[in-house]
Amino acid sequence: MGRAEKVVLAYSGGVDTSVCIPYLIHEWGVKEVITLAADLGQGEELKPIQEKALKCGAVESLVEDATEAFVKDYVFPAIQANTLYENRYPLSTALARPLIAKLLVDAAEKYGADAVAHGCTGKGNDQVRFDVAIMALNPNLKVLAPAREWGMSREETIAYGEKFGIESPVKKSSPYSIDRNLLGRSIEAGPLEDPMTEPPEEIYALTKAIADTPDEPEYVEIGFEKGIPVSINGNSLQPVALISQLNEIVGNHGVGRIDMIENRVVGIKSREIYETPALLVLIQAHRDLESLTLTGDVTRYKRGIEQTYGELIYQGLWYSPLKQALDGFIEKTQETVSGIVRIKLFKGNAVIVGRKSDNSIYTPDLATYGADDQFDHKAAEGFIYIWGLPTKVWSQKTRGF
Ligand code: ARG
Repeated sequence: MGRAEKVVLAYSGGVDTSVCIPYLIHEWGVKEVITLAADLGQGEELKPIQEKALKCGAVESLVEDATEAFVKDYVFPAIQANTLYENRYPLSTALARPLIAKLLVDAAEKYGADAVAHGCTGKGNDQVRFDVAIMALNPNLKVLAPAREWGMSREETIAYGEKFGIESPVKKSSPYSIDRNLLGRSIEAGPLEDPMTEPPEEIYALTKAIADTPDEPEYVEIGFEKGIPVSINGNSLQPVALISQLNEIVGNHGVGRIDMIENRVVGIKSREIYETPALLVLIQAHRDLESLTLTGDVTRYKRGIEQTYGELIYQGLWYSPLKQALDGFIEKTQETVSGIVRIKLFKGNAVIVGRKSDNSIYTPDLATYGADDQFDHKAAEGFIYIWGLPTKVWSQKTRGF
């Protein structure tokens, strides 16, 4: 008896996921492997990957274009929630995982598979995200993770693959581990494992070095509708086009790089470099528009929700009941978050220099220091008396007045 009869495997075309195919069949007794490669805007031709899976022994090789669903159903809610894990990482890799898990589960149900599989190792966050998302979406499916158990080194993995006609990587493989999608790139390993080593310029692909950015600032206006970005400089854009155009505009000014030590779910600290130009600026702009359109108490309360929401995404709990409940809160707060934010891009900086909204609750008559001030100054006095009363009484008691 094998571990499963029919398996849908998340497939990237790389050595590890390719080796998973013969491994599942020959070591774990799986009868049929169906592969699934998802297009999430990583800018890679998927046709060769589709063919490669069949050559490696898959009975069926699926390719899903999921870029639009990625942006609409996973990225936009994260922007509305201003999510930055540990205050910095906009979750560009993490957000793709629940979607890939959904595609795997949908395919498993369609093709009558009894298991799904992925090529994650036992050290990362992605195994947690896949496994938990899959068990949430269909608790009856088994999850197989060969690379978590096979204990082969890189060389052994390549040698194993060669036995089944899987070519070893042609060019000398890069020392880095890179994950890429429409939102940007995550880069780790190799020389970056030393936290004191400056990331070499060659690792970046979407953001210019400051020395190469334009010598003139550029202004860009982002329009939001209920917390969702809908236009750039007055031009309405579809979700995918908006993110890719904004990546170009923002990356050209060297904005969007993050170098951080982060805390993984499995307890390990790791050093990761991100370049996510559009996403970072969208979150910054969105948060700013909220400052114009939401009351102070909602804004402050939402900050706590955002922190939790980001942790849930990072920790693989996208389909959890808590995440769904917080969705209700976030969605409600977004009803009035519509308007325009103006950003100045220059030499690695994105600075918000203006914002406007039909739903603005910024009130010039109340805010002004000029002659047309409508604020009732007299009312402040009574308010402060009551506001400070408990503190005053406490002082009288404890400090002996
Ligand atoms: N640390 C990021 C996360 O857990 C990215 C993981 C993938 N990174 C990579 N370089 N392959 O979301």
